[in-house]
Amino acid sequence: MSSIGENGADFLVVANRLPVDLERLPDGTQRWKHSPGGLVTALEPFLRTHSGAWIGWPGVADAEVDAFEEDGLQLHPVTLSATEVADYYEGFSNGTLWPLYHDVVAPPAFHRRWWNAYVRVNQRFADVTAKVAAQGATVWVQDYQLQLVPAMLRELRPDLRIGFFLHIPFPPVELFMQLPWRTEIIRGLLGADLVGFHRPGGAQNFLWLARRLVGLEPSRGAVGVRTRPGVVQVGDRTVRVGAFPISIDSAGLDALARDKEVQKHAKQIREDLGNPKKILLGVDRLDYTKGIDVRLRALYELLADGRVDPSEVTMVQLATPSRERVEHYKQMRGEIEQAVGRINGEFSTVGHPVVHYLHQSVNRRELTAFMTAADVMVVTPVRDGMNLVCKEYVATRYDLGGALVLSEFAGAAAELTSAFLVNPHDLDGVKNALDAALTLDPAEGRRRMRALRRQVLTHDVDRWARSFLDALGTQTTV
Ligand code: ADP
Ligand code: G6P
Repeated sequence: MSSIGENGADFLVVANRLPVDLERLPDGTQRWKHSPGGLVTALEPFLRTHSGAWIGWPGVADAEVDAFEEDGLQLHPVTLSATEVADYYEGFSNGTLWPLYHDVVAPPAFHRRWWNAYVRVNQRFADVTAKVAAQGATVWVQDYQLQLVPAMLRELRPDLRIGFFLHIPFPPVELFMQLPWRTEIIRGLLGADLVGFHRPGGAQNFLWLARRLVGLEPSRGAVGVRTRPGVVQVGDRTVRVGAFPISIDSAGLDALARDKEVQKHAKQIREDLGNPKKILLGVDRLDYTKGIDVRLRALYELLADGRVDPSEVTMVQLATPSRERVEHYKQMRGEIEQAVGRINGEFSTVGHPVVHYLHQSVNRRELTAFMTAADVMVVTPVRDGMNLVCKEYVATRYDLGGALVLSEFAGAAAELTSAFLVNPHDLDGVKNALDAALTLDPAEGRRRMRALRRQVLTHDVDRWARSFLDALGTQTTV
């Protein structure tokens, strides 16, 4: 990808968040910190190696920040007012679309005020992008917060090549049809030249909805990627639709795990935990889709049944604070903290809690040390577009140690078939998988991890980005 010239950028990522978040400190100063979530984890390493521009919200209300450059990346902040944060971000994006697209595991709320803010903010993102993009530039729009941007941008700048990628699941058509603004969303996405999903099922749902709601005739056609993409003809424009399973910077994490300091840190973590025989690890944003409650319930029952000895097994749950003003999140946080308290109250001894719960984000090195120390990584979402945590765990286990318990309802399950796959709604199944992972024969463990690593190391985020951009018709220069 080439650079930003005087006449604007010729490669742009447009996402709700910038890769860095503005943090306002109590003493009135402010600083930038790494943004949470898988979208930034995946895209940042790719963008940093291909100069370009990133358009996004700096993470706090009413932040008027000029465009700036960071490590060769041009960052263009989009300002949101406090009301827009409440109505567009917390409201329509995370109170309507997030639960609706995650199989309504929590009830979505439909409010016209939220929708109006969503339209207004999407228009603002499109306006900023139209100003920053060079003639004929490639614009890659990201995720559910910005589904109207492709059509709005095309209206302003028909010269651009526009791709859209959805980082969360695209729901079954019956659920999508609940949305009062379903046709507007489909029309918004059809403004792109290429619409990408993690799984072929999402692409098929979208094609069905395009035909049903917008009256277009989808027809199968080859697009040069290995997933089975479709094609929609919109007037004289062809919109391609396909599945592109996202991934991580696998080689980078593999290298970090081999770092002597990180290994020392991992040993220290084990010691700090009292050298338990087995360490279970969970790493998630504190989100109700992640099934943190499921794994705590399974652990509680295994302890109560006497199948797990609390003097031998310790669980660490790292939970990044997320969307803390949204009602479902407040409620879930209370429930999870109660479940941790219950396990510790009943099964811990002084100085040796069974569950270590950190409502915090840790840095990349520390995260790698936790993963290196963990005997069993527990990833049990009730629905997840992909889930990068499980891929990260696999990438760190160059020693072929450890075991992965993974929900069938994470997009990654289609690739990571050598994990202990579980249905998170089947508590006995989750208990049995945890038990099996805790008592795994080392040779069998190595066999499974080798197979998992083969997949993750050969399918990294660079490959994902290239396959998307190639399908979009952009020449990647690497
Ligand atoms: P989501 O995008 O829904 O948050 P993913 O699993 O796809 O879920 O990506 C989450 C990303 O955030 C991963 O890179 C993971 O390592 C990181 N992450 C999650 N929780 C923490 C935490 N407590 N500390 C540091 N990083 C975290
Ligand atoms: C998921 C979404 C991203 C989002 C991230 C963090 O990965 O797909 O779009 O940025 O979660 O959530 P937040 O609401 O804090 O941006």
